[in-house]
Amino acid sequence: MTLVQKHVSLRPYNTFGVEAFAERLAMLHTPDDARRALDQYGPPARILGGGSNVLITRPLEGFTWLNRIGGLQRLEADDASAVVGAGGGMVWHELVLWAVRHGLGGIENLALIPGTVGAAPIQNIGAYGVELKDVFERLEALHLPTGEVHVFEKRDCQFGYRDSIFKRQARGQYLILRVWLRLRKKGHQPDTSYRALADWLAQRGIGQPTIAQVAEAVIAIRSSKLPDPSVLGNAGSFFKNPILLEAQVHALQEQYPTLPSWPAGEGMRKVPAGWLIERCGWKGRREGVVGCHERQALVIVNHGGATGAQILAFAKKIQESVAERFGIALEPEVNVW
Ligand code: EPU
Repeated sequence: MTLVQKHVSLRPYNTFGVEAFAERLAMLHTPDDARRALDQYGPPARILGGGSNVLITRPLEGFTWLNRIGGLQRLEADDASAVVGAGGGMVWHELVLWAVRHGLGGIENLALIPGTVGAAPIQNIGAYGVELKDVFERLEALHLPTGEVHVFEKRDCQFGYRDSIFKRQARGQYLILRVWLRLRKKGHQPDTSYRALADWLAQRGIGQPTIAQVAEAVIAIRSSKLPDPSVLGNAGSFFKNPILLEAQVHALQEQYPTLPSWPAGEGMRKVPAGWLIERCGWKGRREGVVGCHERQALVIVNHGGATGAQILAFAKKIQESVAERFGIALEPEVNVW
């Protein structure tokens, strides 16, 4: 039986910790629950995973589905790799810890990212030099308009920086049932190229880190910079790092020589939004119950009791000052509902 409740507070289901009500909430634990809910009530208005990349600014009408589909399967693909399938509602970090415990390499850099397995491909989660697409094999998803199960191979997903087909043409059309990743069981070379990660390991004299050591480093770095949502409501990076034309970045760097930048495809460079926001004086600034985090300017925090609308208004002010000072339009990374 699919559990359906009426007029449900979503406060426990979003990491910003804002109060907002769903007219109806269906909790799905198996793919069958989802099929039954679809047959009985039709497609949902919204789907929530871990609620860690969403800002809810108003009451949600109709059905909200909560994806809690679990289950873990391991297939031995070949000598060097295993293909692991995880339920869309599984907590992402649990999967990372499981992989690390079993000596499977490929997602250790993605430790401690909040949210669920099913949400991971939607925004192609990434951190410390690795993106989900690097290990992604395929996924199975329930097509809400038809009730069919569709399989998406990597090329079908159109992965980009914090982007996929599920944020574009296929937006709102699928419930992700299961995600399959190809992880290495032999000869894995962890990616330690990201500056903060390389520094952490070097400071401890770790030259050839194991999978577990990389996960430990990532967990330590994230914990030292990013606020724990159970203590201080937040949704990680609020904005994407802007990707600009090389010429624009060089012009900015003439004026601001310390502005960092990274190559981001043909003729383009990525600049850190956190740097821009910090230079506009927002880091650690608080206006009532909303603030900009003191150790990572890209993170907006709820100091307690903030509404979604207040957080959105604060974000708009940050966007305006970055636009005014640098002529750059910051795009939200979180989904605003
Ligand atoms: N920086 C500042 N001030 C700040 C924050 C950052 O100057 O307050 C500058 C520094 O130059 C720093 C650079 O920005 O060297 C990069 O900072 P950091 O390593 O913290 O990463 P980020 O670009 O701010 C991105 C992702 C994070 C991910 C980290 C690590 C996006 C939008 N964010 O942040 O992802 O954990 O890299 O790989 O791409 C998320 O998506 O929610 C998220 C937390």
